[in-house]
Amino acid sequence: MELDLLGNLQRTHSCGELRPSADSQSVVVMGWVNRRRDHGNLIFLDLRDRSGIVQIVLDKELCPAAHAKAESVRPEYVVAVQGKVRRRDAAAVNPNMPTGEIEIDVAELRILNDAKTPPFSPAEDAIGNEEVRLKYRYLDLRRPAMQRNVVLRHKIAFAIRQYLSDVGFLEIETPYMTRSTPEGARDYLVPSRVHPGEFYALPQSPQMFKQILMISGLDRYFQIARCFRDEDLRADRQPEFTQIDLEMTFPQQESVFRVVEGFLAAAFAAAGMTLPIPFSQITYDESVRRFGSDKPDMRLPELVDVRSVFAAGDLETLLIDPSLPVIAVRVPKVGELSRKEREENRPLFDLRKGAKLIDDLKRLEKSFPAAVAKIRELAHATQDDLLVIVAGDTSTRIDASDTKIAGRLSEREIAVYSAAGGLRMELSKKYAERHGAFMATERAVQEAASVSTNYAYVPVDAGEAFFPIWVTDFPMFEHDAETGRWMPSHHPFTAPHEEDMERLVSDPASVRARYYDLAMNGLELGSGSIRIYRKDVQAKIFQSLGMSEEEAKERFGFFLEALEYGTPPHGGIALGLDRIVMILAGAQSLREVIAFPKTAKAVDLMVDAPSPVSETQLKELQIQKRRS
Ligand code: AMO
Repeated sequence: MELDLLGNLQRTHSCGELRPSADSQSVVVMGWVNRRRDHGNLIFLDLRDRSGIVQIVLDKELCPAAHAKAESVRPEYVVAVQGKVRRRDAAAVNPNMPTGEIEIDVAELRILNDAKTPPFSPAEDAIGNEEVRLKYRYLDLRRPAMQRNVVLRHKIAFAIRQYLSDVGFLEIETPYMTRSTPEGARDYLVPSRVHPGEFYALPQSPQMFKQILMISGLDRYFQIARCFRDEDLRADRQPEFTQIDLEMTFPQQESVFRVVEGFLAAAFAAAGMTLPIPFSQITYDESVRRFGSDKPDMRLPELVDVRSVFAAGDLETLLIDPSLPVIAVRVPKVGELSRKEREENRPLFDLRKGAKLIDDLKRLEKSFPAAVAKIRELAHATQDDLLVIVAGDTSTRIDASDTKIAGRLSEREIAVYSAAGGLRMELSKKYAERHGAFMATERAVQEAASVSTNYAYVPVDAGEAFFPIWVTDFPMFEHDAETGRWMPSHHPFTAPHEEDMERLVSDPASVRARYYDLAMNGLELGSGSIRIYRKDVQAKIFQSLGMSEEEAKERFGFFLEALEYGTPPHGGIALGLDRIVMILAGAQSLREVIAFPKTAKAVDLMVDAPSPVSETQLKELQIQKRRS
């Protein structure tokens, strides 16, 4: 038996690169059989590799031996072909294939390997069962759509690296086996054999290390860093994900923004799109008021507070809390909904937030015609638009400490705004085809992909398709109803606004942080902050978080000590690389842009992880399974 069927045969071209200019050239191509069509004396093979597909022709009269071999060839066989490029006849040209003007007449065919009938064909565009795709990920990754995403990810990461290196950032690796980091999710733990009963934690982010690097004087750090978080998973969350993590010394908030805008524009350019910079900016409070969210999707109409159109008595009749906003949510071009449709939409509204929904404006109009006319006017609604009202409910009062502080939003106001914002997004997603506001994004992604050949992108204007926005001045703390404690809304190293410092302990809810997010089309792409660099301030923050000196020392002792040795002002940010690629690939889930992702249950179906380990391993680690 011949072991190496390839022998010394050299590949001269990849499948997707051949064009009419190669007419009459002798070539060797290799790849997977995408399809085989048998016309008796003529057999056609579509040969596929990463670069594309080329048509191979086997003529029984011209190459009887190769033709005979080709009869046994099946999809996904790996073959090598030696032959001559030939321009196709005009009638046979396939305008949908980049190589559609040529084909290869075979002189020699080598079957390098056979293949079992795969559970799905990599030649198919869409495969319904995602579990099968993940189990046979190697077959799934053969699909051109997935290969495009893998290449796109590489290009984006490469462009970002290049940009950051050009503006003086050093890529520095930080440990995976470390101590618990303060990002607020559960840790993945790694037991130590050498120190039985002790554990490393996998980093939720390189947060403390990057700050230490600034203390070390390295000035500008970045890393395309893997992070690990044991949290509930969603389409935009994986337990293991990648951040573009950076930190810089002596920055103003704007310095961080300019760096991110630069590298994101470079990432978009790598994906064939131009992204106008600088990005717009909004405070957290304003974002909640106008969009009901701290990650606003600006492709849709804003929320409108229409409380003023009702007299106090009207609100009482409607069981609406007059101290809270009354918000009109408009989704264009949806049309009037039937009662049945409204019923079906009810679960989209998050009642737990304690707000109430009025979704039958016709009925409201009967009792309050003038108010409804005014609402339509304020919301710029045509008869063709869907309009609903979200307000504070007097019958199910929102259970939150109602603190109205220094002109900032109270928790109950935030609850109503976010219920309205949530519904705005849900309805917009549901009726996307009717209002068409998301189409420009899809079009830009498709256009960029379609003008690309061999993964080289020609820039298209993405100005109307992507809306990046900086959200600034987040509250410093969030109240955790379960523990009754104040928690940092970002992490405990985030600096408060200087002028809010005096209220740290007396009135924590009113303190604003120098904490910012980058949102795009309703997705949080990144988060960062200007950090605390003085030990006394850091101690005060721990104190206001209800953390004792001992607890702070136990968790962050090394870091607190480092702060005492000449720490410069510093700040930074981390952006989700997976999310950036997802947006630029036009994908709906991170699993489409990660080569080996996990399921919503945090399982790797291909390698079958997590999995039990042997008793011997457990013994070495001195770990015993508990019987419950
Ligand atoms: P944060 O926790 O907000 O900040 O994370 C920053 C960005 O990382 C991405 N991200 C995720 N992507 C996929 N799956 C996940 N489970 C996941 N969790 C987060 C998001 C998010 O915006 N150390 C700070 C940054 C800093 O202060 O510099 C941090 O990690 O895109």
